[in-house]
Amino acid sequence: MTTIPTLTKHETVRSLFPALETGVYLNVGTYGIMPAPALSSFLELVEEYERFGLFSTSGVHQKAEAARVALSQLLGCEATQITFTGNATDGTNLVLAGLTWQAGDEVIVTDEEHEAINHPLLYLQRSKGIRMRRIKVSPEPDVMRQHCADVASERTRLLAFSHVTCETGTRLPAAEMCLWAAERGILTLVDGAQSLGVFKTHIDDIGCDFYTGNGHKWLSGPKGTGIFYTSPARLLELSPAHVGAGSLEHANVDSGQADLWTSGRRFEFGTRATSLYAGLGYSLAWLENLGWDNIEQYIAHLSNYLKTKILARSYLHLLTPQPFAQSSGLTTFVMDAWDAGKLSQELMRRARVRVRVIPHYNAIRISTTYFNNEADVDMLIDTLDAIENEK
Ligand SMILES: Cc1ncc(COP(=O)(O)O)c(C=O)c1O
Repeated sequence: MTTIPTLTKHETVRSLFPALETGVYLNVGTYGIMPAPALSSFLELVEEYERFGLFSTSGVHQKAEAARVALSQLLGCEATQITFTGNATDGTNLVLAGLTWQAGDEVIVTDEEHEAINHPLLYLQRSKGIRMRRIKVSPEPDVMRQHCADVASERTRLLAFSHVTCETGTRLPAAEMCLWAAERGILTLVDGAQSLGVFKTHIDDIGCDFYTGNGHKWLSGPKGTGIFYTSPARLLELSPAHVGAGSLEHANVDSGQADLWTSGRRFEFGTRATSLYAGLGYSLAWLENLGWDNIEQYIAHLSNYLKTKILARSYLHLLTPQPFAQSSGLTTFVMDAWDAGKLSQELMRRARVRVRVIPHYNAIRISTTYFNNEADVDMLIDTLDAIENEK
């Protein structure tokens, strides 16, 4: 018998998300939603801070710094190694714009990367003459090492990939891929947009040079929150394309001194959206209270529940690896004889089930997170059954 890992009073958790009363929300992989207590505290803080400015007593800066500490604990690194950004794509750009490129330099990426990696790289390909080398994804370490080896050359500078791919939700063997790269002097950038907050992600376990993620998906934070990590060994190799008040530790217009901070703060300058990071802190504290391990186990259970239902239907074809250890909270499938865009609209029309389309595979992607339940999955599957039975 399957037991659901306990998530403190699940009905209470769900009651804090009014969106769940209006439909079946199966797409935090695109936009997360904030739990009511975190959202209220965040809105109160924004109001107080924006109303009173320098007279504010909200402690917004201390709260943002507390969020930085919470994120560093989640990633198992020092708070000084964390840069606050606006989204995951910002982190990709900090790496790509911060490294010095020669025409002909090569970057290995997978064939399931989000625009967050593909578009800045396409731009770099056009503007600086670098070359993208694409490899197929697999959750198997040996296969990925081989794929990397097949395209590597003496011009390979960077291996950039999603920890969990946004298309099939495949969990890539990040540690093995980063080790393969490190042994060859190739830098690594890991995009954690679909993994941070789902399963334990410690930077030391991954061994990457750069890591980017966001707060607005699986961490239930406000839009406009992203994080970026650089290993201390690589920090000095990145020359920020943009600097300003806050990024230099020592600056003197008379002597010309301009020393960047030797921490993640070198990328932060000017007046920032501090209240957004404080808001993310409220969400992190609330999730912490649920327990990160509980959240991971719960998401694993719900993903398995969904995959079992998909595999039991001959008209559905699962594209995501079945074991949770090779996947995450994303599950992608194809439905026979259906255009995925039309199917997604049909799911909304019939049952207000909100999903994401993956055009590359003509597939539907489902995100199952801590606030979803088996009834959400049942509603999705029952609606698909009803559509299929009408054929
Ligand atoms: C793997 C991956 N990376 C990056 C992003 C984009 O993140 P952001 O909008 O925070 O830049 C997404 C999804 O939107 C994604 O799935």
